[in-house]
Amino acid sequence: METKSNKRVLITGGAGFIAHHVIYYLLKNTNWNIISLDRLDTSSDINRIHEIIKDFDKDTQKRVKILFHDLRAEINSQIKEKIGHVDIILHMAASSHVTRSIKYPIEFVENNVMGTTHLLEYARSLNNLERFLYFSTDEVFGPSIPGVKFKEYDRYNGANPYSASKAAAEEICVAYSNTYKMPIYITHTMNVFGERQANEKFIPMAIEKIKKDEIITVHINKKTNQIGSRHYLHALDVADAILFILNLKKVPFPLNHTACNCPKFNIEGTLEVNNLEIAQMIANVLGKPLKYELIEPLDRPGHDFNYSISGDYLRSLGWKPKIEFKDGLAQVVKWHMDN
Ligand SMILES: NC(=O)c1ccc[n+]([C@@H]2O[C@H](COP(=O)([O-])OP(=O)(O)OC[C@H]3O[C@@H](n4cnc5c(N)ncnc54)[C@H](O)[C@@H]3O)[C@@H](O)[C@H]2O)c1
Repeated sequence: METKSNKRVLITGGAGFIAHHVIYYLLKNTNWNIISLDRLDTSSDINRIHEIIKDFDKDTQKRVKILFHDLRAEINSQIKEKIGHVDIILHMAASSHVTRSIKYPIEFVENNVMGTTHLLEYARSLNNLERFLYFSTDEVFGPSIPGVKFKEYDRYNGANPYSASKAAAEEICVAYSNTYKMPIYITHTMNVFGERQANEKFIPMAIEKIKKDEIITVHINKKTNQIGSRHYLHALDVADAILFILNLKKVPFPLNHTACNCPKFNIEGTLEVNNLEIAQMIANVLGKPLKYELIEPLDRPGHDFNYSISGDYLRSLGWKPKIEFKDGLAQVVKWHMDN
């Protein structure tokens, strides 16, 4: 029998990179039951879930239920019945490949905007939903401006259809919060890294290339001498931030802010590192020489050199990342060596 504290959490995109780390973290740190809902597209891998649950005992493994559904379609009564009672929804499913969004923008509106609206409609039909958390990105604010760190309620400036579709879905969430008084939160997260990330992303790609003594391409803006950089967060730190936010008893709005009624939280990584520095750190861990070329990308519309958000608000509430970038990176390199 489930006790009241055995919450049931629906996680969309559960077989994706970040969400499967969140499932692991929740299994480890709560007694909650988890329902993963995913359509298993080319970016997902159901084996990720099997890998993270295999070392838990049988009772813990039974706390995860896996369902297949494509959010471009509504959640009908059969799926609803399979999901069962839900206390919390973490909406992490999305098409997230920027280059693909530039080629196929409609796909991104369908998955990210329509998909979110279908999920909100489902959420609206539930009794006593405690929280709906929409997992958005720092990319909604567009490229960084020197000296500016975007705050939670700043303007959007999507530089590609991916970020625009995430911003559009945020606004639908705000509208559902205002119109239907639903308990919705939104997070903006910086670049995430960790074990079992798709190999097209910079960190896993660099690890694989350095392992094989291949040359790494690093993008540079030759006019400014700027190399593409990111603030990175380990996926388990992201999971930690999500649990922290879900457990907040009170959410005071930031001071002097013209915030909307739907609380938003920036989840900021502490360290900004450029891609050359990352490649060098990986080479050091592997004990290999770094072979690289600096290339000015001639035609990469929609690819920003960096993003910047302020994590002051979440810090003021008491959360900060726990995993140092270099330690997390060494752990990920080790995982690649072992797998
Ligand atoms: N990776 C990052 O650095 C980063 C940073 C900030 C925010 N985000 C956001 O985090 C979330 C997860 O990102 P990720 O990097 O883990 O992506 P991912 O591509 O690894 O996972 C996304 C998952 O969503 C599923 N999905 C996509 N469209 C769906 C649909 N229509 N119906 C059902 N399932 C669908 C996919 O099958 C996949 O398993 C996304 O919402 C993304 O916008 C990612």
